[in-house]
Amino acid sequence: MSLYKHFVTDVLIVGTGLAAITVALHLPDNLRALLVTKGTRSETNSMRAQGGIASSALEDDHEAHRADTVRAAKGWVNPEAVEFVTREGRTVISELEALGVIFDRQENGEYAVGREGAHGLPRIFHSGGDQTGCRMMETLSEKITHPVLEQTVITQLLTSGGRVVGAAGYRGEERIEISARAVVLATGGIGGLLSTSTNDTTITGDGLALAAAVGANLSDLGYVQHHPTILVHHGKSVGLITEALRGAGAYLMTRDGHRVMDNHPERDLAARDEVAAMITAVRKQESVYLNTTPVRQLAERFPTFARKCEELNINPELVEVTTGVHFLMGGIETDLAGRTSVAGLYAVGETASIGLHGTNRLASNSLLECFVMGKAVARQLQLAPRRPLPAFRQVFGCEDDVLQEKLSEVLTVELKEDRLQATLEQLMSESVQQTGRQAEQNRLHIMTGRLLLEGALRRLKEERQTNEQMAPAATT
Ligand code: SIN
Repeated sequence: MSLYKHFVTDVLIVGTGLAAITVALHLPDNLRALLVTKGTRSETNSMRAQGGIASSALEDDHEAHRADTVRAAKGWVNPEAVEFVTREGRTVISELEALGVIFDRQENGEYAVGREGAHGLPRIFHSGGDQTGCRMMETLSEKITHPVLEQTVITQLLTSGGRVVGAAGYRGEERIEISARAVVLATGGIGGLLSTSTNDTTITGDGLALAAAVGANLSDLGYVQHHPTILVHHGKSVGLITEALRGAGAYLMTRDGHRVMDNHPERDLAARDEVAAMITAVRKQESVYLNTTPVRQLAERFPTFARKCEELNINPELVEVTTGVHFLMGGIETDLAGRTSVAGLYAVGETASIGLHGTNRLASNSLLECFVMGKAVARQLQLAPRRPLPAFRQVFGCEDDVLQEKLSEVLTVELKEDRLQATLEQLMSESVQQTGRQAEQNRLHIMTGRLLLEGALRRLKEERQTNEQMAPAATT
């Protein structure tokens, strides 16, 4: 008798966000899938997405969207990935509508598309105003017929002959093993590993540590995006304020009315990293506020924001903001079919890196990536030869406050090499000897923390080298 509860499936999907359910929804009927999630199926970043989904559906072609994506990313992209996702992106709105998602329209029946930072044109589609993620997820999740195991954490990928053939972990406190022909990591970003982020607390970068442990290639882990507008209440960060508000006319200012982004050619619609850097610099001297008075029909178009202000008894017309960890640009390297460098292992969504986001993701390109790449992974799984299953025989957030604080102190908008190095050395000297669900999760979180610190140090080194190479040219 096995000591473990054993599950068998064709495709194990780790995660229940948009990328995960898109894969599940597009699998052919002859492939069984099992989805697992650490919390409940709705504890995902996708559920929280306010901004919307970017698509050039209303433009002549995807060229301008492609160019804006590259520009926001500072050119550090895989051009094929940008081409693929923005081109495929043209049809996502009609495909989502066919699946039941209702996008907002104006009174004349035309789509109510919005603008966000670094988009040259209004091309952000919303559902229920700033409730897009939640609306999309509720509609699509209902359509999933595959089983979903909640309260289930994966702590190890199982390999055989160089292939990933399943995974092990805990359902609650019960040890489980899952045999699968393919494993798809769709575990999202890393925000839950830091004390202040816009992410769900269960999103702790587990996919990165799991993939690294079986030798998969990871890239660009030094590029963590800080969202410029996190609502501040009594000195504490209390939630994301969508960039779409600035797209609708809101602007950043200091208490005396000086417009923070006045000197930038794109003003309040500059790329996210540039706005976050400016807010960080200004906040060293004084507080920064978002003035929403130019936004028409605020409560109807931004119900999440309006509700939050009402709950906190804040005047929505002028709210204090700060920056906060939002999105990981890098991740597990994959091709445009979601294949990692390890056979049998796939990655999709924020946990994957196809080279779309460079050093700074363009706003509202993440739901787009999840849907386009989720379909691509499902297509690939359909094509992959059906291998025989190998015959080998249970809310998990980051509960380590000390680790969260250590990482939050150094993974900031302004990275400092000596502080990153010192924290890395501390983490390198830590080892978790115990066994059991909590200990194994801690081990994963420390490993992901190390990967992120190494990524940030690598980024600083590369930036230094680039600056050194450019310095003589600048003086000649
Ligand atoms: C936002 O609504 O500002 C966030 C959307 C995104 O991350 O693209």
